[in-house]
Amino acid sequence: MSEEEENGIEKLPGVGPATAEKLKEAGYTTLLSIAVESPRNMADLADIGETIAAKAIAAAKKVADVGGFETGDVVMKRREEIGKLTSGSKALNSLLGGGFETQAISELFGEFGSGKTQIAHQCAVTVQLSVEEGGLDGDVIIIDTENTFRPERIVQMAEALDMDPKKVLSRIHVARAFNSHHQMLLAEKAREIADEHNVRLLIVDSLTSHFRAEYVGRGTLADRQQKLNKHMHELLRFGDIYNAAIIVTNQVSTKPDAFFGDPTRAIGGHIVGHTSTFRMYLRKSKGGKRIVRLIDSPNLPEAEAVIMVDECGIRD
Ligand code: GTP
Ligand code: MG
Repeated sequence: MSEEEENGIEKLPGVGPATAEKLKEAGYTTLLSIAVESPRNMADLADIGETIAAKAIAAAKKVADVGGFETGDVVMKRREEIGKLTSGSKALNSLLGGGFETQAISELFGEFGSGKTQIAHQCAVTVQLSVEEGGLDGDVIIIDTENTFRPERIVQMAEALDMDPKKVLSRIHVARAFNSHHQMLLAEKAREIADEHNVRLLIVDSLTSHFRAEYVGRGTLADRQQKLNKHMHELLRFGDIYNAAIIVTNQVSTKPDAFFGDPTRAIGGHIVGHTSTFRMYLRKSKGGKRIVRLIDSPNLPEAEAVIMVDECGIRD
C-alpha cells in the first residue's frame, strides 16, 4: 500500500483516524475498495455505523480513480482465455456450461458425505489431462483443512483414467492448514508454487471449517466475515493471475445459530455466496448417486445434474 493511498483514506471528509484505522484493518486499503463497497457490507466488516460507512463511500466515490470502461470485445477476449475443467461427469460439466471455469471460484456445499471431497480429488486428477481430454494440462494445489486428502484415492482415480499414478501424485501440491490463519497464509504462499509450476487448479477443502470452529458467538461475526472476505479475494486473485480454476468446499449448518442462520444454508453467509461465481448444492441420493444443484451463476440457469461416486471417481 502506498503512503498516498493511506493518507487518502484519512483525508476523506467525515472519516476520522479511528474509523480510518478500522477500515484499513478490515482490508479497505485503497480509496477504490471503499468507493465500490455497499454501506451495509462495510458496516459489517469494519464494525462501524452504517451512516459513517455511507459517508466514507460517498466521499471516496468523488476522489477515487474508479477505472475506465472497456469495450465488449476486450472483455470477450479475456473471457476467451477461460479454461474449462472436466469433473469426470458429462452431466455435471454441462450443468456448468462445459466444466469448472478458470478465473472463477466454484463452491461445493452440502452435508457430510455428499461428495465434496470426492469431486475435489477427481478434479485434482483431471486438471492434469490435456485440454483435448478436458483437462488444463496443469498442476494442482490443495489446501487441506480437515486432513481428508487421500493419495490412495488419487491412485484409483488416475488408474481409472489410464494415467501414471506416480506422475499424477507428483503434480499435486498438498498442504495441511492447522487453523484459519495458517489457511490464509497458505493461500498467499500458493503463488510461490505457481511461479515454479504450471498450477491451473487451487482447491480449498474445506473453506469454512476452521473459521466455523474458531469464531464462535455473535460478537466474532464481523471479524470472521472480514477474514473470510480477504481469503476469498486472495483466491480470486490467484485464479486471475494464473488463469486457474478455484474449487472450495463448504458445509451446511445443521443447527440455526448466530452465524449460520437457516440450517440448510451454506456457512459463510453473503461473503462466501457473493464471491463464489458458481455455487453447487450437493445431496445424497440412492446407490452412490449424488444430486448437484447449480444455485447461483452469472449466465447459467438453475438446474440439477445426477452424478455417481464409485471406486473410479466421479462419473455419470
Ligand atoms: P464432509 O467433508 O464430511 O463434509 O463430506 P464430503 O462431502 O467431503 O464427502 P466425501 O466427498 O468425502 O464423500 C464420502 C462418500 O463418498 C463416502 O461416504 C462414499 O459414499 C463415497 N466414496 C468415497 N470413496 C469411495 C470409493 O472408493 N468407492 C465408492 N463406491 N464410494 C466412495
Ligand atoms: Mg470432505
